[in-house]
Amino acid sequence: MALLIKNGTVVNDDLMIKADVLVLDGKIIMVEENLVVPENLSKDYQIYDATDRLVIPGGIDPHTHMQLPFMGEVAVDDFYAGTRAALAGGTTMIIDFVIPPKTSSLLEAYKQWRDWADPKVCCDYALSMAVTTWNEQISEEMKIVTEPSFGINSFKFFLAYKNVFMVTDEEFFQGLKRCAQIGALGRVHAENGSVIAEKQKELLEMGITGPEGHTQSRPEELEAEATNRACTLASQANCPLYVVHVMSKGAAKVIAEHRQNGAIVFGEPIAAGLGCDGTHYYSKDWMHAAAHILSPPLSRDPTTPSTLMDLLACGQLHLTATDNCTFTCSQKKLGLNDFTKIPNGVNGVEDRMSVVWEKGVHSGKIDPMKFVSITSTTAARIFNCYPRKGRIAVGSDADIVIWNPSATRTISAQTHHHANDFNIFEGMIVHGVPEITISRGKVVWEYGELNVEAGNGKFISLPPFCNYVFSAIPARARKMQPISVDRSNI
Ligand code: URP
Ligand code: ZN
Ligand code: ZN
Ligand code: ZN
Repeated sequence: MALLIKNGTVVNDDLMIKADVLVLDGKIIMVEENLVVPENLSKDYQIYDATDRLVIPGGIDPHTHMQLPFMGEVAVDDFYAGTRAALAGGTTMIIDFVIPPKTSSLLEAYKQWRDWADPKVCCDYALSMAVTTWNEQISEEMKIVTEPSFGINSFKFFLAYKNVFMVTDEEFFQGLKRCAQIGALGRVHAENGSVIAEKQKELLEMGITGPEGHTQSRPEELEAEATNRACTLASQANCPLYVVHVMSKGAAKVIAEHRQNGAIVFGEPIAAGLGCDGTHYYSKDWMHAAAHILSPPLSRDPTTPSTLMDLLACGQLHLTATDNCTFTCSQKKLGLNDFTKIPNGVNGVEDRMSVVWEKGVHSGKIDPMKFVSITSTTAARIFNCYPRKGRIAVGSDADIVIWNPSATRTISAQTHHHANDFNIFEGMIVHGVPEITISRGKVVWEYGELNVEAGNGKFISLPPFCNYVFSAIPARARKMQPISVDRSNI
């Protein structure tokens, strides 16, 4: 059945117009003021009134970890619970990470993630892939998974989690060079994992075993150092770089400096870092403190969340994600006597859109177009699925949210749709509520009710050599050609 969204304000990243939107067979087929439904459809369509509402592209969360096996546990938001929560919050596409253990081939891991995700996803999804070690086979398989039948166009490197996912600088550099050759974006978790491992030992030896040890073992300087190293190596490899979960002012400053010097680098703050600070780690309530543990940690500087939003507003940071990777309180208790064993990760996929609206638009820092840019369009551009995703336009997928900018809701674990039992935004009152979420033309969230089916989401294959990311790379490669001096006449 067709859907007609009437009387709303359509918001894209570059315009806001009064227009009606007609949807048929999962696509947007007309966007016009005072739209007249064509004769052939006039008997069979449903009307949604969007008076005083914004009609925006569904959110794209480019960084999630649904059902990730990590630190001895498996994240409880699986591809079903996690994508339901996404839709309830106005996010209609996620990009999750295949993370192969060091001993696994990329192809095996890819198959595993597809087997997990395909039958469960309720919204569209794509995959990014981590490279956790380096050898010839990995290099070969990186190329294979960028083919359309696999659809990967970005690879992530961990500079933290020593002995688990962490790569050495040599491995990272080889991986970045390979990314550049095959037209894939390099992504990085930037923290100095070796120094963190030393600091963890020191703190445990001093008897600091609680969650406060997590933040003290990961000073912000170690995020800034690794971010600087990652940007430097990416420039040397002539590879565009995307820094995931930028959590501190220092890391954000490094990204801006490298951009100023010509680097192609994107910075992604996450909902947790925009909505919370690291004072929670010093709570006397162990569970409360542990529930906020993720890496890099929330910043201990309480002014960081608002600064990260300022940097999104002025374009020094580029888009928002969540790093959604949830563990229950009982799973977090694995580290009751040793903070290094507390599974790392927090929620975000359901609340990101509202948190960004509250901290960005409601606070007056950004306008609704910038909101669309940093929650949807920029991700679609960077990951090469724009304008199919990230835009309200004829021909785009009908991933649409009818957004009430003035309604409020109070975030709580009692009412959220995540599978875990803690919400880091508990009690936050947010303006900006997704009243209706439409995924590929189907209404899946309507005034607080979900209507989803496991497996209804589709896998989105992301092509390499994205123009938005790669267009300057060939010219730079020519400029970087090594010089050889001919001395044959001597
Ligand atoms: O603590 C976090 N961030 N958990 C998920 C894994 C990662 O580092 O992205
Ligand atoms: Zn990470
Ligand atoms: Zn607290
Ligand atoms: Zn992550």
